[in-house]
Amino acid sequence: MYLPFFSTIEPSSGSVSRGSQPPSVFVEEPRGALRIPGHLKTDRPPLFSLVVPTYNERENLPPLLDRLTQLLDRSLPGEYELIVVDDSSPDRTWEVAGGLMGQYPQLRVMRRQRERGLSTAIVRGWQVARGEWLGAIDADLQHPPQTLLQLLAELENGVDFALASRHVRNGGVSEWSFSRRFLSRGAQLLGLLILPEVLCRVSDPMSGYFIVRREAIADRRLDPVGYKIAVEVLGRGKIDRIAEVGYVFQERQEGASKVTLRQSIEYLQHLLRLRWHRIPRRRFLQFAIVGSSGVVVDLGVFHLLRGEWGWHLAASAILSTEVAILNNFIWNDRWTFGDIARKQRGWRNRVDRFVRFHLICGLGLAMNVAIVLGCSNLGINEYLSKLMAIVLVTLWNFGMNAKFGWRV
Ligand code: GDD
Ligand code: MN
Repeated sequence: MYLPFFSTIEPSSGSVSRGSQPPSVFVEEPRGALRIPGHLKTDRPPLFSLVVPTYNERENLPPLLDRLTQLLDRSLPGEYELIVVDDSSPDRTWEVAGGLMGQYPQLRVMRRQRERGLSTAIVRGWQVARGEWLGAIDADLQHPPQTLLQLLAELENGVDFALASRHVRNGGVSEWSFSRRFLSRGAQLLGLLILPEVLCRVSDPMSGYFIVRREAIADRRLDPVGYKIAVEVLGRGKIDRIAEVGYVFQERQEGASKVTLRQSIEYLQHLLRLRWHRIPRRRFLQFAIVGSSGVVVDLGVFHLLRGEWGWHLAASAILSTEVAILNNFIWNDRWTFGDIARKQRGWRNRVDRFVRFHLICGLGLAMNVAIVLGCSNLGINEYLSKLMAIVLVTLWNFGMNAKFGWRV
């Protein structure tokens, strides 16, 4: 119970009066690890739990709940619950939500006072959820509620994860500015660089509108930061079967987006945290040691060709890089990914792996240059840009080689 001075919510008006003993209108805010329970504590649980994260959405919430309940009362009568998770919004959205509980018996409300953030709000909502299917939808009507029916149908068909995507047939965004489109696609590209094996699984990993099967994420420690909860679910869940449904991202009705530079920084932090979580530590360390040996070979051959034999600069640079790539391939094929390579015997397989390795490293080289130029154009120190490029490209090379080179 979090309302000060034992206030109660008058169900009809949503206004707050102070004084009498509080009814327990709000769901207790969970503490500790962000872990979704696998087993359900209640008998006859609803099938579907939909979490609505809110921050300053008092105007949008009533029409959203009205549309959701009309839709779900028809398609899932008595089989769903709505869980609003509000982070003590300055506009007191939690009060409006509490005041609507009398009208919607399937509505539960959590007012958080210890944590803030979109992704953790959704996970805390799932922690108190009772459904087998766990969903997330924005409160501002930018995610059209009717798309839920298609997402539910996909869960019915047995998928683990059904995502509403702006980038498939029947998908799109309303009047997004070029800069917003560029930022959204840029965020997706950055994600593909750092977590290719995760973000390449769906067309719109930035989406915050989806349903996931509880058992796919149950008893796993989630650790999201920022806005991209779908990336967290794909990165840590046991997601085998995925479906995508097209939807058009709508214009906001009331209020404003809470996306700021902070969310962009949190997104990068989230990607790197997930990368570290997903990376096989020993194999990655071996890959990094081989990469470092490649730097020594590259510099050594370059010095021999250019310094000792006076070869042309470009020829020295290219040949020394080639020798380094060959060095790295041989060690990675025999040591880092040796266990995999031994199952893919024969010269044809080996040449095939070398060609893929060479392509991925070539792309990595191009990205290295692009990152250095891009960062230095943004005024970032050139050596820091180079260091960031080396870290990002090493993650890229490892992820892509593991996934597409040796096909771990
Ligand atoms: N509890 C809580 N705490 N809710 C939050 C917070 C927070 O800190 N920040 C935002 N929300 C809620 C908003 O109230 C809204 O319901 C939803 O999260 C999305 O917030 P917006 O600020 O409207 O985000 P957006 O419209 O720019 O982007 C949304 O749509 C994109 C496309 O699906 C987000 O869902 C993005 O994650 C998503 O990529
Ligand atoms: Mn929005």
